[in-house]
Amino acid sequence: MATTKITKEQWAESDGYLARLREENANFASAYGRPRYAHTETYGCQQNVNDTERIRGMLKRAGFEFTDDAEKADLVIYNTCAVRENAEQRVFGRLGILKHIKEQRPGMLVAVCGCMVQQEHITEKIKKVHDHVDLIFGTHALWRMPELLYRAIHENGVVVDITDSDGAIAEDVPILRDKDEKAWVSVMYGCNNFCTYCIVPYVRGRERSREPEDIMAEIRCLVKSGTTEISLLGQNVNSYGKDLGLDIDFADLLRMVNDIEGVRRIRFMTSHPKDLSDKLIYTIRDCDKVCKQLHLPLQSGSNKILKQMNRHYTREQYLEKIEKIKREIPGITLTTDIIVGFPTETTEDFYETLDILKAVRYDSIFSFIYSRRVGTPAAKLDFVLKDEEIHRNFDEMLEVQNQICKEKNLEYEGRVETVLVDGVSKTDKNLMTGRTDGGKIVNFRGTPDMQGKYIDILITHAKQWSLEGEIAK
Ligand code: SAH
Ligand code: SF4
Ligand code: F3S
Repeated sequence: MATTKITKEQWAESDGYLARLREENANFASAYGRPRYAHTETYGCQQNVNDTERIRGMLKRAGFEFTDDAEKADLVIYNTCAVRENAEQRVFGRLGILKHIKEQRPGMLVAVCGCMVQQEHITEKIKKVHDHVDLIFGTHALWRMPELLYRAIHENGVVVDITDSDGAIAEDVPILRDKDEKAWVSVMYGCNNFCTYCIVPYVRGRERSREPEDIMAEIRCLVKSGTTEISLLGQNVNSYGKDLGLDIDFADLLRMVNDIEGVRRIRFMTSHPKDLSDKLIYTIRDCDKVCKQLHLPLQSGSNKILKQMNRHYTREQYLEKIEKIKREIPGITLTTDIIVGFPTETTEDFYETLDILKAVRYDSIFSFIYSRRVGTPAAKLDFVLKDEEIHRNFDEMLEVQNQICKEKNLEYEGRVETVLVDGVSKTDKNLMTGRTDGGKIVNFRGTPDMQGKYIDILITHAKQWSLEGEIAK
């Protein structure tokens, strides 16, 4: 299916609602002597973070101001994730707490959006159990939020829009980003892979790529406002462009971004191993601004499990790619995602995964205990292992990986690394924090004016999860 865009007229209609809201918010401010406050909370992946930036862009245009405190907000929006049960439970927990807050502040408006509510059974549950929710909209309705919000303010009862669409792309939605120096830029939406454990294709729809000119225009605009690090986003960036009917793939896109003056670092995620081409490996190697870092989700090291997960590669093929990557790009930082406790996984299968961790020696891993997702094929499978066995395997994996992380970090001691400074460290207010080209966190003694700058740091001490250093002479 060819990718379609929301027309200018369609967006103009949405924007018209933002104008109405802006007028109402101005009246509110003169009546109450304060602006209307919005509070947003984001769960899940960077795609959701990027969506929240759009939500905030629209809210700002509608005249809302923002507060970090949900209790002070006139509008609370939860942008939710459905990938694992605990992400959903947290949102239900938050909604429970909000119920009491809303009882004290009846004018408050509560909205739930994103992946979780794109599932009908969840939306039904929210409507039944949390009748203080005023607005529910799914991932496909994001650009229609202005109208939905307007209706939620003016109508009684809950406004719901979780219509499924194979997804047009809305280019004109304004974006309000948190950081100046770094930006996430979505290059495609949706996923066609249907890994058997995963809900994402059901809640995000089919793959659709943004047109290269639109992506380039967004990045040029970011660079003008001071952004130097660009992270390109998609559930599987390696299939970028397939739906566009143009002769451009993700590697070509990387080169195009690499050519933009003012961009200093380019990152991207996520790459599906089955689609990782040699061309992409050479492009990462050859493009000076593309960070030497690759996130390549393995999920499992057992061929039996990989097949049942519908991953379309074997452990041998995966390892072959890793070998090639390491050969072509020595020193590249490698990270991965692992699922422990897929229903049919035995402890032997698990040990095959552990073997790969030991062989590849990832810089870090994101590991998850399998969570059953309603409507996915794997949800019908019976479990081989007991809960406690799965948890024991999970803990064993963390132990093995922690050791590897520490050893890999030790290799950095004595090196000078260029760090893009993020700001003040969250754990120690006296330290500044930033990331290396490979994405490692470095804390060092510096000053807040260094935020957004690239600074050479001599690494003096390796910790489990981060590096410590001092400004290089
Ligand atoms: N498109 C990306 C990321 C998808 S979600 C990719 O394919 O890599 C991020 C991670 O969540 C996945 O890589 C997987 O490891 C994990 N995940 C997805 N569904 C899950 C489930 N049902 N239970 C546990 N982990 C899951
Ligand atoms: Fe989920 Fe697989 Fe798509 Fe990743 S590639 S989003 S794991 S279905
Ligand atoms: Fe979660 Fe949706 Fe991302 S399900 S992981 S927020 S695409």
